[in-house]
Amino acid sequence: MKKIRCLITAGATREHFDPVRFISNPSTGKMGWHIAKASQENGWQTTLVMGASPLPEIDGVETIKVVSAQDMLEACQSKFPDCDILIMSAAVSDVRPKKKATNKVKKDAIDLHPELERTPDILLTLSKEKKNQILIGFAAETNDVIAYAKDKLERKNLNAIVANDVSAQNIGFASDMNKIDIVCADGSIFSPELDTKENLARTIIKFVEKLLQK
Ligand code: C5P
Repeated sequence: MKKIRCLITAGATREHFDPVRFISNPSTGKMGWHIAKASQENGWQTTLVMGASPLPEIDGVETIKVVSAQDMLEACQSKFPDCDILIMSAAVSDVRPKKKATNKVKKDAIDLHPELERTPDILLTLSKEKKNQILIGFAAETNDVIAYAKDKLERKNLNAIVANDVSAQNIGFASDMNKIDIVCADGSIFSPELDTKENLARTIIKFVEKLLQK
């Protein structure tokens, strides 16, 4: 029997101004890392596209390290046609500098008003290339969590979206704990209890497995 192929993204992208300066965010990639581990333990052929993260590679998981949103898009595009599931948990930077210097810019020469541009929306791009894949997104919000998550689910044509409130200090970014709500395309919402990211990763994989069987 053919193995289920699961593509997962995790970590923060870095959008460099020069080799030592960049725009990014506080994601450590923990949630996506645990999802990749749970996917692999579930017997799925797993690829992890990993932005900046201090976490080690996982035995048995193909890991592709990337820096920028553009790198992440290209890595995902190369794997997406052959996968059954995409779980997009990476914290992709929304903007990037328009210009990137090859060498470190001297302090006095730093542009104090650099021009920015939007990064490509990886999930939106891939949703347009979607055939039979199951697409799962993440929505980190500080307010109106479910409403924003539903909007993203529709806009990005997802099967489900994992919403989490990043306004609380003890959960979300860099924490071992998380509180999530999984909002589905059919309007149903599954709300597991506050738990470790490790346990929630297993819950997410079981949830996706059920979607596959539908
Ligand atoms: O629109 P927003 O960034 O909040 O959507 C979050 C979801 O979209 C996450 O799954 C994130 O990984 C993905 N995303 C993306 N490319 C971007 C920004 C977000 O794939 N440039």
